[in-house]
Amino acid sequence: MTFKSSFSATRRDFLLGGAATLGVVAAGGLSMASVIGRAGASENAGGAVNMLLRPGAAQASLVPDPAYQTAVWAYNGIVPGPEIRVRQGQRLHARLENALAQETTIHWHGIRVPNAMDGVPGLTQAAVKPGDSFDYVFDLPDAGTYWYHPHANTTEQLGRGLYGALIVEEADPLPVDRELVWMLDDWRLNESAAIDDGFNAMHDVGHAGRIGNVVTVNGVAPMGTAGDVPVRPGERIRLRLLNAANGRIFALDFDELAPIVIAMDGHPVTPHRNDTPLLLLGPGMRFDLVIDIPVSGKPSFAVTDRFYDGMENAIARLVPSGTPLRDHAPDGDLALKPNSLPEPDLGHAVKHDLIYSGGMMGDMILSQMIRSGHITPEKLSAMGMESAAGSGMGGMANMMRSMFGAGNIWAVNGRDPDRDGNGPLVTLTRGQTCHLTLMNATAWLHPIHLHGHAFRLLARNDAPVRHQPWLDTVLIEPGDRVEIAFVADNPGDWLIHCHILEHKVGGMSGVIRVL
Ligand code: C2O
Ligand code: CU
Repeated sequence: MTFKSSFSATRRDFLLGGAATLGVVAAGGLSMASVIGRAGASENAGGAVNMLLRPGAAQASLVPDPAYQTAVWAYNGIVPGPEIRVRQGQRLHARLENALAQETTIHWHGIRVPNAMDGVPGLTQAAVKPGDSFDYVFDLPDAGTYWYHPHANTTEQLGRGLYGALIVEEADPLPVDRELVWMLDDWRLNESAAIDDGFNAMHDVGHAGRIGNVVTVNGVAPMGTAGDVPVRPGERIRLRLLNAANGRIFALDFDELAPIVIAMDGHPVTPHRNDTPLLLLGPGMRFDLVIDIPVSGKPSFAVTDRFYDGMENAIARLVPSGTPLRDHAPDGDLALKPNSLPEPDLGHAVKHDLIYSGGMMGDMILSQMIRSGHITPEKLSAMGMESAAGSGMGGMANMMRSMFGAGNIWAVNGRDPDRDGNGPLVTLTRGQTCHLTLMNATAWLHPIHLHGHAFRLLARNDAPVRHQPWLDTVLIEPGDRVEIAFVADNPGDWLIHCHILEHKVGGMSGVIRVL
């Protein structure tokens, strides 16, 4: 990674480190979003929440120094957009008023909406033209941590700042002392803190996506004290984490805080500590954590992103002060009431495979998966890839090159399903259980996101996954096979795509049709 070199030395020190300069600014920056809170929301007589969302040009202080303003695109002038809070079962009436100079839509990531409300232009609705408006009206069936963002020119619209949190509160919320919502993002800024215009650059599409050089939490780079969160000793915190970045995967280190995972992608999971020391949060994914601040101990706890070796990013610093709220961590069950999701019937499931291939250095991984027998000749021929398989590595590389030449950098089952006109990847009848195996035959990680449904994560590489969480986005490592299952209970055409937005542009997308 070389992004720091894009800054001049002085500016770099200033933007990426100079705690001394930044010390005076934006103390408690991370709690700002909770103050902004429900700005603009109102509840109507029928109990629905009304919200006006107006995407347009705005200025933001991403870098916590008033000398540097960034021209962004934002909902209602703020990054992140207004946090929408509703109660489970409530109806949301969100009016989109397009103040951008280009078409847009809103997708409600993770919400099981009726198809016409899903916000995918050309699939579920016509894109909303500049100056036009569109009313999104739907009920919120599931409690949890969700978010909203455009689904038109998504790389650029999200990359310029269009996203916000959508929190659906449980009827009986978990008793905690404080709730925090952190929307993580990264930005590719030039030396004057302006957004780099090179969206959909070929290199980003074929590699890790558009990785930025400035990480923000709730729209503020947590530099110096801007990342400080004052807390009380003994305090119990519910932290809702969301990754709104185009391509960046976060691997979060929580110092000595030992968070307990209580929900993933919104849905309750058996409370547990993470399997690995670092919490992996791919684009689109969410975690709800419970953190008990120790009653005594360190003067501060750093939350740090360590995804890229030797390139750590400060995310926040929790700084305890004041008299302890209690003398030991509170007891109490952390299990949330499950959402009522239809349980997959694995004994009667229809099985499908989705094989992701392509990208830089992908032929190597694909041939490994063929050699290990995980991708069989039958599968390849079903994908129309037999000629490549038959002629071994060379054939594979040729196939990659010809797809690359056609502008397709990635393929799903050997296809470019969004553009080849050959219809959905999978067609299901309503009520069927679908057991999907997702195979990552590429050299890159992919967070694969399904619209309109939540799925159970069953297994990785044949090993059953602990707690089998309900997810809408699953991160798949190179060469891995992931099994998921869901009941196709929501009729319509639903995207299943990589949430590294540049990968989607390069062909990592397709439709699951529920009849
Ligand atoms: Cu969060 Cu299809 O997207
Ligand atoms: Cu991807």
